Amino acid sequence: MRAAISGWGTALPEYRLTNAELEQLVDTNDEWIVERTGIRERRVAGSGETTASLAIEAGAAAIKHAGLTPDAIDLMIVATASPEQLIPHTGAFVGDGLGITCGSFDLNAGCAGFVYELVVGASMLVTGQFEHVLLIGAETLSRVVDPTDRGTCILFGDGAAAIVLSPSDDAGPGLLSFDLGVDGSAQGLLGIPAGGSRLPASAQTVAAGDHYLKMNGPEVFRRAVRIVVDSANHALQRAHVSVDDITWFAPHQANVRIIESAANRLAIPPERTLVNIDRYGNTSAASIPLVLAEAADDGRLQPGDLVLVSGFGAGLTWGSVVLRWGAA
Ligand code: ACO
Repeated sequence: MRAAISGWGTALPEYRLTNAELEQLVDTNDEWIVERTGIRERRVAGSGETTASLAIEAGAAAIKHAGLTPDAIDLMIVATASPEQLIPHTGAFVGDGLGITCGSFDLNAGCAGFVYELVVGASMLVTGQFEHVLLIGAETLSRVVDPTDRGTCILFGDGAAAIVLSPSDDAGPGLLSFDLGVDGSAQGLLGIPAGGSRLPASAQTVAAGDHYLKMNGPEVFRRAVRIVVDSANHALQRAHVSVDDITWFAPHQANVRIIESAANRLAIPPERTLVNIDRYGNTSAASIPLVLAEAADDGRLQPGDLVLVSGFGAGLTWGSVVLRWGAA
């Protein structure tokens, strides 16, 4: 049995934060942001919007697109690095919003969160114990980004995207292979220092800005290209396919220069690489399902296409999947 993608949906806040607006807030400019990152605008959640509200909207759309009703979902995973709150998990809020009581859990693997939940969800589905698995990537990173830090506030955006996994046969569409990894020795490169067991919230942590996302951008950048290329190659080898067999490369959307360098080293041409970072920035766990859903909606991504998915993020985590697009 294989786990195939039977439906997808997205949810994006209406508000578009442009580079021109950021020029008014920090010492930056449109030319620098476009040249160094490829980002022109990103979505920012409004006062009524949260990680769970975006996840509910995307999840409901994916269930409908799969031709199912919420009660058909047997398991739900929510990948997020910006959860609704620390306890309970975001999935509790999302399940309530969708009107379902199936098992659910959150998965935090930073920007590789969607790749991780894809592997976990598919592995659980092929046990035969779960028929339809809902995977959501949802983020409101605008809530944890320091608005005065030009190294991070220009990069991140809010949004959610979801897919439904359903059974397919051995030779049908679905996941063919994967590669996952974490180099925890690099955990200090990217994270939110306070608010957990290591540095609980206090007046001092708030005053010091320790609840904001901190990132050593150049070092993450340097490692990201190698990580993506190595991980993608492992997944290709395990699927027994070559890069020429790949119809679409769907990388995590962190920086267009990372995407271009990785694609170049993998020998994947730009016309076979999915990119939407210009409009959404880095939406972390939402970025890969968002770029896949867009390409499927506009007809670029077709049933039968072979897709190489690759993500990396805080941890440093990484993950790649080779999958054949389409439902059983
Ligand atoms: N506007 C204008 N100038 C800037 C800005 C800005 N927003 N930010 C930095 N600069 C300046 C710097 O001060 C520096 O100036 P100097 O040379 O006078 O000192 C110069 O531009 C170059 O700065 P770098 O930080 O070296 O720029 P770089 O090209 O590395 O771009 C960036 C920075 C965009 C952050 C890049 O390093 C990056 O994208 N890193 C990877 C981020 C990432 O992928 N994160 C992982 C996923 S996130 C997750 O898991 C939640």
